[in-house]
Amino acid sequence: MIDLRSDTVTQPTQAMRDAMATAEVGDDVYREDPTVCRLEELGARMLGKEAGLFVVSGTMGNQVAIMTHAQRGDEIITEAESHVFYYEAGAMAALSGVQARQVPGRRGIMEPDDVKRAIRDTGNVHFPRTALIAIENTHNRGGGAVWPIEYVREISAMARARGIVVHMDGARIFNASVASGIAADVWASYADSVMFCLSKGLCAPVGSLLVGSVDFIEQARRNRKRMGGGMRQAGIIAAAGIVALETMIDRLAEDHANARLLASELAAAGFGADTASVETNMAMVDVSRSGMTAAEFKAGARERGVLCNDVTATNIRLVTHHDVTAEQCHEAVGIMASMLKS
Ligand SMILES: Cc1ncc(COP(=O)(O)O)c(C=O)c1O
Repeated sequence: MIDLRSDTVTQPTQAMRDAMATAEVGDDVYREDPTVCRLEELGARMLGKEAGLFVVSGTMGNQVAIMTHAQRGDEIITEAESHVFYYEAGAMAALSGVQARQVPGRRGIMEPDDVKRAIRDTGNVHFPRTALIAIENTHNRGGGAVWPIEYVREISAMARARGIVVHMDGARIFNASVASGIAADVWASYADSVMFCLSKGLCAPVGSLLVGSVDFIEQARRNRKRMGGGMRQAGIIAAAGIVALETMIDRLAEDHANARLLASELAAAGFGADTASVETNMAMVDVSRSGMTAAEFKAGARERGVLCNDVTATNIRLVTHHDVTAEQCHEAVGIMASMLKS
């Protein structure tokens, strides 16, 4: 099987398995796990923040951030297809009692003027308080799009002037960094908190980090506990996260090149694919010419040995990662091209 469903399917590397086998551990709820502490410090430093918190998943990191920044009844400005709104099982409503103000974006990128219009007037008692603006970089349903840094800067300045917090869902912040040449700590400087995943393109088996100020992380730690996310000898998994941050970032460029390869070869084969829109490790491909819906195409591809996900009625998403080679990408194109003819 050539698995192009997601970068979450990546296997831990041998170096990660070795680090896990020998990790020094303790009870992290007592803050006695030296490996977790080292990972949290490393992640915070790389993102230019004071402190970090190791969480089991990106979803937990985003939702702990929302719970920590917002009060019940507050409103969160978020892009209409953002992960925090679209893919987290209604968690912001269920766990934090907040509502989403959805701003439609283009490939997940909100126009700063649209964000400005969505901010509530604090003087009007009818309105909820705008507590937070969430920015997803890179944007998953936006096909791995990287935000224009000037948009992030403008939204951040607008938010700060009004006492509104910015949270960055940076599940793939290092893909954004590698693709744009803008360091992760520069992206993070425009946000009060950032969540980023170790378990996606960076290949760690489990875990994400939430970073921000010391005060924020202290409160977030309590909220993580409240959600049942206090872990004990978590250094076993944190050890793999350290290897991920120390060794797996630069190679993301290979995944980006493979995603461009997929898009250009599939376009040449007659699919609706736009190489110019491939900025990181995802390619959105319109499969209408096969005469199948995206769901049917996905099922047919699976039978032939290629795994992908359907994201709309017409489009599939192909995600490149450490465990698919350029050769396998060529092979996948050949298989999918054969489905146009059959
Ligand atoms: C942009 C984005 N944010 C958050 C998450 C959530 O991560 P997890 O699956 O670890 O909960 C994902 C997962 O795909 C994602 O793509």
